[in-house]
Amino acid sequence: MAQKVVAIDGPAGSGKSTTAKALASALRLAHLDSGALYRSMTLAIRENGLPLNGPNLAAWAKDAPIELRLSDAGYVPTIAGRDVSQAIRSPEVTLGVSEVASIAEVRDWVNWALARASELHPRGVVVDGRDIGTVVFPNAALKVFLVASPATRARRRVLDMGLTDDEVTVARVEGEIAARDSADSSRDIAPLIKAEDAIEIDTTDLGFAEQVDRVVELAKAALFPEKS
Ligand code: DC
Repeated sequence: MAQKVVAIDGPAGSGKSTTAKALASALRLAHLDSGALYRSMTLAIRENGLPLNGPNLAAWAKDAPIELRLSDAGYVPTIAGRDVSQAIRSPEVTLGVSEVASIAEVRDWVNWALARASELHPRGVVVDGRDIGTVVFPNAALKVFLVASPATRARRRVLDMGLTDDEVTVARVEGEIAARDSADSSRDIAPLIKAEDAIEIDTTDLGFAEQVDRVVELAKAALFPEKS
């Protein structure tokens, strides 16, 4: 049976998280940001002064005190009870996260945390990431794969970070995004690829409201067919 799950995958800056958040709020679902868990793990490793590719990292990661906690603002990532939603967006974490996300034990742990949170939610969940439709929830009721041109994705990231979108800044961020996409797409485990049954939406020329409307309509039909 299809799970009450909407999987939203795609490369960095394609608008997954913002779309997932808006969809969750429109249909009263919970939003689970899988990238936030990889980022939290990266931050915890850094705060403990461990090397990103050390020999004992996998064992340490299994018991790391990271949790998605349900709050009024939805699920927030925490380390030892501390809300780290802001701290995990730092450039240091962004630079290290692809390496941490390539560790099998870390991926197993993230997938376990996502499965548990989804089981606890009565109405359904929207999960965004890179391998949600292919590996984590292969039976998701709806799989969406968002894409956008590299320049558009870079510009969105620059504006998200509160910077001005001058040519030099956009070009720098575009380079960083390209490096992360290439690491995420070429790794051996759970690489970023589109699931065969995913619906691809190119958001390059779509306004945000239009992008969300499309996904909301698809999700209504997939999750609550009796009402659509
Ligand atoms: O979506 P994001 O930028 O917050 O993701 C951070 C990193 O985590 C990204 O570079 C790849 C990794 N990631 C992953 O490997 N699998 C996921 N399901 C989500 C994120």
